[in-house]
Amino acid sequence: MNTYKITVHSEMETIELAQNIESEKFPNMVICLIGDLGSGKTVFAKAFAHAMGIVDVTSPTFNIIKEYNGELPLYHMDVYRTSNDIDNLGLSEYYDKGGVCIIEWADLIKDNLPKERLEIEFKMIDENTRILVLKPIGEKYVSVCEDVI
Ligand SMILES: Nc1ncnc2c1ncn2[C@@H]1O[C@H](COP(=O)(O)OP(=O)(O)O)[C@@H](O)[C@H]1O
Ligand SMILES: [Mg+2]
Repeated sequence: MNTYKITVHSEMETIELAQNIESEKFPNMVICLIGDLGSGKTVFAKAFAHAMGIVDVTSPTFNIIKEYNGELPLYHMDVYRTSNDIDNLGLSEYYDKGGVCIIEWADLIKDNLPKERLEIEFKMIDENTRILVLKPIGEKYVSVCEDVI
């Protein structure tokens, strides 16, 4: 599987990437964000939401999932605090509801992700530098990567 590596040198460059990916959005798009605390997952999710016309984004850490109405519905999930009881959360209901799902800490629910998705891994290099590794799984996501890189 092809991966696409991008080095970003500032929060603004992460925001720009999120905006570029947002411009390629489609119903039932699923974006999985993977990386340590403070690596930039929420920065990405907020910038994506802003580009969809959603401004009041707060972290869903204690709610697991927050829904917003933008150009498409946005389902912002943070599964950091989920237990092993993930099956009962019904997250998979959201994958094909016609909106965009952004899942922070998606690597914690590997067995509950949709077959096709865009994975973005955030690797912290120093205070402001991150390597973002885009892994498209499925043809639609390959096109997204080809268009934004
Ligand atoms: N290149 C970068 N991309 C994203 N965030 C960055 C970058 N450089 C520094 N930061 C800072 O790192 C932090 C990322 O926080 P956050 O997005 O909440 O992380 P996470 O959701 O992965 O825990 C923010 O304080 C942000 O300002
Ligand atoms: Mg976060």
